[in-house]
Amino acid sequence: MRQTRRARAKARHTGSLAVFPGSFDPITNGHLDIIERSLSVFDQVVVAILVNLEKSPLFSVEERVEIIRETYRKQPRVRVETFTGLLVDYAERVGATVIVRGLRAISDFEYEFQMALMNRRLDPRIETVFMMPAEGYSYVSSRLVKEVFQLGGGVSALVPPVVERRLRDKYRDRTSPRPRGERARRRVR
Ligand code: PNS
Repeated sequence: MRQTRRARAKARHTGSLAVFPGSFDPITNGHLDIIERSLSVFDQVVVAILVNLEKSPLFSVEERVEIIRETYRKQPRVRVETFTGLLVDYAERVGATVIVRGLRAISDFEYEFQMALMNRRLDPRIETVFMMPAEGYSYVSSRLVKEVFQLGGGVSALVPPVVERRLRDKYRDRTSPRPRGERARRRVR
C-alpha cells in the first residue's frame, strides 16, 4: 500500500514531535524557556525558522540556524530547520501534529489566537499549544534585545552567550557603542 507523506514522515522518527516556529532574529532566553518547557512534554522539538523574503532581518537565515544549532549542540532532542510557505504544510512534511507558540502577555493573545484558528482551518489535524515563559521573560522580545544592544544596553541576561557574541560582531563595524556592562568592566581594570 502506498504510504502518505505524513505516514512516511512519522515513520522517520519515534515519539512525539512538536514544531516551534518563528523568526528568531535573534533567539532569546524567552524562546529557550519555551523550548525547555516543550522538551518536558514532547520527545523532540523542531525549531523552524521562517524564511521571510519580505522582512529585512538583522541575522541571515543561515546565521540564525548556526546560532540555534550552537545553542543546542548538546541536546539531540532539538532540531533546527528552515521553512517557506504555510506552517501547517511544513508541520505535515516533518510529521508533527503540534505547533508550540509562546504567550508572554495578553498583548500577544490576539495575533496568536488568529494564527492558531487560521492554522486549524488550514489543517484541523494540527493542534496549536501555547506555553507561558517564566515571568522574568514576559517583556523580552527579539526586537527589544536588538534595540537595547544597539543603543549600548546590556543584554547578557536576555540571550544565550552565542547571541551576545554575534550581536557584538554584527555591530562592531557599525557606529554603535559597546554594551554598557562591558564598558563599565573595562574602566575598572
Ligand atoms: O516569530 P514570529 O515572527 O512571531 O513567527 C511568526 C510565524 C513564523 C510563526 C508565522 O508568521 C508563520 O507561521 N508564517 C508562515 C506562513 C503561514 O503559515 N501563514 C499562515 C499562518 S496564520
